[in-house]
Amino acid sequence: MDCNIGVIRGDGIGPEIVSEAVKVLDAVGAKFGHNFKYDEILMGGCSIDATGEPLTKEAIEQAKRADAVLLGSIGGDAKTSPWYKLPADKRPEAGLLGIRKALHLFANLRPAYLYPQLNEACPLRDDIIGDGFDMLIMRELTGGLYFGKRETREVNGKIEAYDTLTYNEDEIRRIAIKAFDIARKRRSKVTSVDKANVLDSSRLWRKVVEEVAADYSDVTLEHMLVDNAAMQLVKDPKQFDVILTENMFGDILSDEASMVTGSIGMLSSASLNETKFGLYEPSGGSAPDIAGKGIANPIATILSAAMMLRFTFDMDKEADAIENAINKVLDEGYRTIDIMPAPGKDASSIKQVGTTDMGDLIVERL
Ligand code: IPM
Ligand code: MG
Repeated sequence: MDCNIGVIRGDGIGPEIVSEAVKVLDAVGAKFGHNFKYDEILMGGCSIDATGEPLTKEAIEQAKRADAVLLGSIGGDAKTSPWYKLPADKRPEAGLLGIRKALHLFANLRPAYLYPQLNEACPLRDDIIGDGFDMLIMRELTGGLYFGKRETREVNGKIEAYDTLTYNEDEIRRIAIKAFDIARKRRSKVTSVDKANVLDSSRLWRKVVEEVAADYSDVTLEHMLVDNAAMQLVKDPKQFDVILTENMFGDILSDEASMVTGSIGMLSSASLNETKFGLYEPSGGSAPDIAGKGIANPIATILSAAMMLRFTFDMDKEADAIENAINKVLDEGYRTIDIMPAPGKDASSIKQVGTTDMGDLIVERL
């Protein structure tokens, strides 16, 4: 099969981790007889440096021409990078938000799974970890606070700022349907997270989610307030299957979920619209503090490439091959620094490796 993949290497550790995912894709292509063609797309800080804009029209057109886009990460150090002297809508993050909106990528899937091999890297107590956990955060990605009207202005001699959180029922319905559909393929439970004890937008969210649930009598729905959800994620993460939530809550809870699975370096993601197109990216940031050191964990990006094969190209056995290879590498004790056993845990059979070694080890086991 011929596959046209847009590649956004981006900033910070982005180029390093994307190179490893491309290496793995090439090996999968050779093994299974696929032709992966790559079109390099500029976005984020590197695009600002080259064009003055974090996301050009040309970049959006390139992404639209691709079957799928693989993205590393964008952004720099907010204290030191000149990108953060620019107005907010010219900064690297505006590129990411812009591409999500331009391609209508409203459904952001972030699977947080604790590999049993990484129990030792999990910061939670053994009795909480138990047999491990496996959840998927379904985050709404093109609405809410991220895209609402906002302003900084002066009122009666004082500067004030506001942001607005708006959802209409259609936006809620389409993401809820995605959550219930995917729950059916998992353990048939949806936890819808909101702040319905305070926010109108959450009360509408709850009502629409309940309407959608009526068509899925085989899926259990529960509602949870976001503050409680943050607590339950560390108290009893096993209870979660699919977590359905709005943009900002999903941003926060997905970082928390990644940490309870050991590291944000393991958390892949897919951003989807109503077509087969998807933007696939690790959920972690550009980590400018470790960029160029060759120590970043490429697994989240490689897992994102596996999601791309599964969702956009319907290549289940190829995606399985990647996931199995990662499992083998972890079984054999190889770890990047972020998934090393926590202090005090047994590290006797563990070997620390860098970014490119991790990519090579996975390729060898495909
Ligand atoms: C994420 C990131 C982005 C977000 C930032 C970089 C704008 O944190 O993908 O979770 O907040 O959505
Ligand atoms: Mg985030």
